[in-house]
Amino acid sequence: MSIPLLDLNRQYESIKPEIKKAIDKVLESQYFIMGDEVRELEEEVWKYCEANYAYGCASGSDALLLALMAIDLQPGDYVITSPFTFFATAGAISRIGGIPIFLDIEKDSFNLDPKEVKRFLDGEHPVFKKLDPDREKIKAIIPVHLYGQVADMDPINKLAKEHNLHVIEDAAQSIGAEYKGQRAGSLGDFGCFSFFPSKNLGAFGDAGLITVKDETLAQKTDILRLHGAKPKYHHSLVGINSRLDTIQAAVLSVKLQYLDEWSDRRREIAQTYNHLFAEAGIVGELGDCSGSCSAMGGNECELHSDKIITPQETTGSPRENGRHIYHQYTIRTRKRDVVMKALKAKDIGHSIYYPIPLHEQECFAYLGYEPKDCPVSHCASKQAISLPIFPELSSEEIEEVVNTVVDAVLG
Ligand SMILES: Cc1ncc(COP(=O)(O)O)c(C=O)c1O
Repeated sequence: MSIPLLDLNRQYESIKPEIKKAIDKVLESQYFIMGDEVRELEEEVWKYCEANYAYGCASGSDALLLALMAIDLQPGDYVITSPFTFFATAGAISRIGGIPIFLDIEKDSFNLDPKEVKRFLDGEHPVFKKLDPDREKIKAIIPVHLYGQVADMDPINKLAKEHNLHVIEDAAQSIGAEYKGQRAGSLGDFGCFSFFPSKNLGAFGDAGLITVKDETLAQKTDILRLHGAKPKYHHSLVGINSRLDTIQAAVLSVKLQYLDEWSDRRREIAQTYNHLFAEAGIVGELGDCSGSCSAMGGNECELHSDKIITPQETTGSPRENGRHIYHQYTIRTRKRDVVMKALKAKDIGHSIYYPIPLHEQECFAYLGYEPKDCPVSHCASKQAISLPIFPELSSEEIEEVVNTVVDAVLG
């Protein structure tokens, strides 16, 4: 049985007539740019995300860029973020000449660790000493809600307030995820969403959206995505061309109606995986990361055994009322190579998100980071592996994935 990491055909088959009807309506109107469907989707999404304003744009990468443009990030300004994320998070900072400050993640959630941010802003972090930044130039924090789980936003927002920083949520993987009952995209000053086809809410091509809290910044964002012009041909700002196509908006509106149902099914699948792995006796507990683990060249490891670590729902207790929407179901194992080989042999989809943390990327070598500056991220990049998860995944497929991983770990 071949099992894909993600099968979008199954989703398409289940909603085909509605999608075709919605696209046909746009084709009949021939209104491909900023048509009614775009405004309608924007309204649906700000309501869904419990945000104040929402603007469609061309991609999640552009949503991040627009947020940084809206806060007037200047070349040489610093932005704090996670090194354990897709490149676009830091790419957006660099594209306007900003300097990313990578601080380590929590070992359980894989998200930016507020304790690291505090240590940095207090000037006590080795990375602070290394970068020696002009404090006035530190302008924002971009927490990333990785794999479908919201970062620990209360302490991050508190630190941002104390240090007068903007908070830009990279919610590309987390539409509908919740933190203490609040939706991703409503917690910071901006929420940046990607509708890349493989996302939980995926378009038929590139697409993105940005939510904004403050009215003035919202108006600015709206203009920036339209070349900085309002009204047309009157440019108060230098913006970019980053619009959400009407056809994409029409597709997304259809899919948005199913999103909660799909996310609930993803949660159910994750629970089934957790249960089956536990039943097979291969689930270990996360220990303390000493920074001297085998991945760092030492001989200790927070995974003290060859067991696996299943995803930790840190947005649940003690961070009550959390909702992980499982964009990815990611386990950790010291036996990753063995597990990958077994999955490959059975044609079971899997992927490593992300094999090289951003503080170790060649393009950021100029910052002078070493792997040990963000040891948890380094370690996660050596141990994390994502398994198939999508709403239409069958029970038989889940069992096959589990059996394959269990045999590989025990064998
Ligand atoms: C965490 C994260 N940030 C940003 C992006 C960029 O989104 P896009 O591919 O729509 O530009 C992605 C998605 O690929 C992502 O996963």
